[in-house]
Amino acid sequence: SRTAAVIPAAGRGVRLGPGAPKALRTLNGTPMLVHAVRAMAASRAVGLVVVVAPPDGAPEVRNLLDAHPLTGHDPAEILVVPGGETRQESVRLGLKALPGDIDTVLVHDAARPLVPVDTVDAVISAVRDGAPAVVPALPLADTVKQVEPRTGDAAGEPERVVGTPERALLRAVQTPQGFDRRTLDEAHEQVATEGEGATDDAGLVERLGRPVVVVPGHEEAFKVTRPLDLVLAETVLARRRA
Ligand code: C5P
Repeated sequence: SRTAAVIPAAGRGVRLGPGAPKALRTLNGTPMLVHAVRAMAASRAVGLVVVVAPPDGAPEVRNLLDAHPLTGHDPAEILVVPGGETRQESVRLGLKALPGDIDTVLVHDAARPLVPVDTVDAVISAVRDGAPAVVPALPLADTVKQVEPRTGDAAGEPERVVGTPERALLRAVQTPQGFDRRTLDEAHEQVATEGEGATDDAGLVERLGRPVVVVPGHEEAFKVTRPLDLVLAETVLARRRA
């Protein structure tokens, strides 16, 4: 049985502020994408990493990864393919590039460069133990409110709260999410015909009515989204090297 990791890295990273595509921003001198690839390749089970580059950026990403080769015994193979307009489209293009002998697939955001290998291995183990879809997740620190959908004429008015889901039953979901390969292919085929809308891959599997299970996530698997996240990520890296 072979495991591959697909890393969607085609996002612009608008919320991070102006500059290069998010995955190419550096953390302590090394591009975020390189950290993310290493995090997947750190698992002995991962034999192939498919990086989904910005639509016009595949050659640049290929060069970048060639300049930061994986080290160690029997390193994972790395493929680079061009991505699409949305994260979902980028993942679908990554899945299309997988060879036939892959039966377990991880999908991992380039924007989560610091996920520890133990979390990656826990996700893979749960898939190999029979779960069609696995998400690493953490309880929430914040209470979450649901608000009314905004209509055009409500612009300027304060948002109205319509509910407070029980916090103890909520989870903040991270990546890598792990899948039985056929289940994930099916989920993405379905969405290609039914339109977009899910913000993660497990959400597509839920729409198929298949079970999705949770394994413990990790604080260091946080998503680098806003400028403050860059500060946190560089501090975590510095602490690891100390
Ligand atoms: O924007 P967000 O933080 O949700 O992006 C999550 C991941 O999806 C990032 O790694 C980003 O590069 C990727 N993405 C992509 N293709 C897009 C949009 C986002 O690969 N069109």
